[in-house]
Amino acid sequence: MTDATRDFLIAPSILSADFARLGEEVDNVLAAGADIVHFDVMDNHYVPNLTIGPMVCEALRKHGVTAPIDAHLMVRPVDRLIDDFIEAGASYITFHPEASDHIDRSLQLIRDGGCKAGLVFNPATPLSYLDHVMDKVDMILLMSVNPGFGGQAFIPGTLDKLREARRRIDASGLDIRLEIDGGVKVDNIAEIARAGADTFVAGSAIFKAGSEVDPHRYDSVIREFREQLAGVR
Ligand code: DX5
Ligand code: ZN
Repeated sequence: MTDATRDFLIAPSILSADFARLGEEVDNVLAAGADIVHFDVMDNHYVPNLTIGPMVCEALRKHGVTAPIDAHLMVRPVDRLIDDFIEAGASYITFHPEASDHIDRSLQLIRDGGCKAGLVFNPATPLSYLDHVMDKVDMILLMSVNPGFGGQAFIPGTLDKLREARRRIDASGLDIRLEIDGGVKVDNIAEIARAGADTFVAGSAIFKAGSEVDPHRYDSVIREFREQLAGVR
């Protein structure tokens, strides 16, 4: 896939949403033009924070959310939760290779459950984890912050890593999305896209951008993201 044909997807991270009104928040970002719901699962073990699990994913499906749900598992061990998220209606399930004893098996479990599988790379995790499983991933997620919290600053070295991941994907000829997560803002999304990303997670940039008139409307920030991305094509 070349830059010219790559489609860009926006994936709001609900970590920064108002959890007391989560269904409505997800409805609002989707109505504002978001493509994918990024769902951060933290276990206070693999990462030093605790968030939401499969019951909340299932609740969003029951609420009527039909958009793809991108479950980003920051948990150890991962396999048991993979099954739970398949049952809960996740579309993508991604995990950190360091958190699985058997990476190939975990990827296979996800695909066997009918979901799209992905590996997540922390800032210091090498892309060599892809060497023998490239044909088993549908998504490569590069963390541009250390996982655990929203609202952190984008680590600039991730741009070179994105270029390397893009080279690997293009050389493989496979249909693999390249997602970026952490510190994505209106003023850096174009540069991130030029480095090769096609799927953009943004938490604080979207959910803290509601207008004063209506703090839960996200049209304008998503429009600004799209305007920035339009200049990249
Ligand atoms: C961090 C999470 C991110 C986080 C991004 O561990 O994986 O998805 O919500 O938040 P922002 O966009 O605020 O950096
Ligand atoms: Zn995430």
